Amino acid sequence: MTKRRRKGKVLVTMIITATKGTPSTAGVELVVYLVSKDKFLPVIKDFSDHNRQTLERLAKTQEFAGEAGKAMLCSGMGGIRADHVLFIGLGEKKKEALRAALREAGGIAVQYARRLGARTVAVDVRARELALPNVLNACVQGALLANYAFDVYKKDNGKKVVLQTDFLFADGRMAQNARRMIKEEEAINAGVTVARDLVNVPAHDMTPERLAQVAQEIAKNSGGTIKAKILQRAECEKLGMGAYLAVAQGAQREPKFIHLTYVPPRNSKKVLAMVGKGVTFDSGGLSLKPADGMMTMKCDMAGAAAVLGAFTVFSDLKPAVHVHGVIAATENMPSGGAIRPGDVVKSMNGKTIEILNTDAEGRLTLADALTYVLKEKPTAIVDLATLTGACMVALGEEVAGIMSNSSVLAKTLQTVARKEGEEMWELPLFGRYAELLKSDIADIKNITSTRYGGTLTAGLFLQEFVPSATPWAHLDIAGPAFIERPVGACFQKGGTGYGVRTLVGWVMGA
Ligand code: BES
Ligand code: ZN
Ligand code: ZN
Repeated sequence: MTKRRRKGKVLVTMIITATKGTPSTAGVELVVYLVSKDKFLPVIKDFSDHNRQTLERLAKTQEFAGEAGKAMLCSGMGGIRADHVLFIGLGEKKKEALRAALREAGGIAVQYARRLGARTVAVDVRARELALPNVLNACVQGALLANYAFDVYKKDNGKKVVLQTDFLFADGRMAQNARRMIKEEEAINAGVTVARDLVNVPAHDMTPERLAQVAQEIAKNSGGTIKAKILQRAECEKLGMGAYLAVAQGAQREPKFIHLTYVPPRNSKKVLAMVGKGVTFDSGGLSLKPADGMMTMKCDMAGAAAVLGAFTVFSDLKPAVHVHGVIAATENMPSGGAIRPGDVVKSMNGKTIEILNTDAEGRLTLADALTYVLKEKPTAIVDLATLTGACMVALGEEVAGIMSNSSVLAKTLQTVARKEGEEMWELPLFGRYAELLKSDIADIKNITSTRYGGTLTAGLFLQEFVPSATPWAHLDIAGPAFIERPVGACFQKGGTGYGVRTLVGWVMGA
C-alpha cells in the first residue's frame, strides 16, 4: 500500500494486489492486457469469436501491433466483465527494453484509469515471461511513479481517490512471489515520493532547517537503524568548512549540515557514503542568475532529496552495509554579507579556493561535504548534484552525467541505473582540463575562464577533494532531477526523485 503522509493525514492512493485469476472474473472497471510486438492474436484468444473479429478490425484501423508505448482502448465490449479493455504494447521482448516497456505500461495503465475515472484495474500477467518478479517489478514501479501527484499548494488538496490495481496470475505461487516484490517496490517508491515532494515544495518552505527536520524524522521513524546528526553553523566553523560557509554567508536562513548514519543488522566491512547537493535555493548569489535561470532553482537540493529518499527506504529494506548520507544544506543568496567574486576561502581539507563566480556554489558545498565524510573511511562515495547547466546542454533533461575515478564503481552504478530506468552517461574526468582550475592567488578557483566543458571541470574540481584511492562517482543530475515537461507516462513536470532508485539498488546490491 502506498501511503502519503501530509499534515498528519495518511492518504492511501494506490492499493496493489496480486491474485490468481482471469480478466473475465476479476470484476473491475478496467482490464489491461500487455501485448508484445505482433502478438495481438494470442492475447485475445480467450475472447468470443465476435469480439475477436471486432478487436482485430479495431487494431487494424488504429494501427496497433503491440509496439512499445502504444495503447488501444475498447470500451463497452460485451462478453467481458469490465467497462473498458486496454491493450498496451510492449514491443520486442528483449531484457532491458522489456523492462522499460513494462515500466511505461504501468504508467500508461494508471493514466488511462485516471482519465476514465476507473477505481479498479486488473492487469493480465498470466503469460509466464511477464510474471517473474524481477521483470514485473518494472510495471509495478511504473504504476506507482505515474500515480504521483503534487497538490499540497492547491485549494482542493488531499481529495485523493484510491486506485485498486490487481495483477492477475496464472497460478497462486507466482502471485505469492509477486506480493513480496510489490511490497519492496512500494517501499522504494515511498522514498522516490519523499524526494519528489522535497523538490516540488517551494524554497520558502523547503529551507535548510526543513531538510534537517526531514532527516530527523527519517531517523525517528527508522526503528533505531538510522541516526541523524545536525551540525549548526558554529560547529561547521570549528571544523573549518570555509567553502560551504562561504556560500551560506549571504543567506538569512541558517545553514544546516546533515549527517545520516544507517547501521546494518549485522556488522559489515563495507561503508558506503552518499553526498547530496542541498542548495535549497540558488539565486546565483552576487553573480546573480537572470530571471529565467532562477525560476526552477528550488530544485537545487535534488541531490539532497535523493539521499533523504534513499534513507527512507533503508529503514524498510535493511541493507547489509553501513551507509552515510551527508548534506551541506544552505541557500545561495545575494546580500551585503554575501561572498564576493574574487574572495578566497579555506576549505575543510586545507585547500584555498578563489571564488570567482558565486553561482558555482554547489562544488563549494560539496567540497566540504566530501572532506567531512572521508573521516568515516567510506569504501565508496557517490555524490549527486544539480551541478551544471552544461550537463543539460550535453545530455538533455532525461540523462544524468556520471564521472568517476573508479571504472568499477561507474559500471556498477550504470548497471543499476539502467535496470531502474534512470539513465546516466559517463563523461570523462579529463586530466588536462584540471589546469583550467588553477588560480593566480589560491590553490584552486571555482570556475574556468572558458565556456566549454563546464560539466567536466566541475567534476575535476570535486576530484580535488577526494583521495584517488577512494572509489568515488559524481552524478550531475541537473537534467533529470527536475523536468519542465512530462517525460513518458511515469513522470509529470517537476521533481522526479531521480537517483533514489539507483542509490537503493546500489546499496542493496553491495
Ligand atoms: N544549480 C546550478 C546548475 C543548474 C542549472 C542546475 C540549471 C539545474 C538547472 C549551479 O549552481 C550553477 O549555477 N552552475 C553554473 C556554473 C557556472 C557558473 C560555472 C552554471 O551551470 O551555469
Ligand atoms: Zn549556482
Ligand atoms: Zn546550484
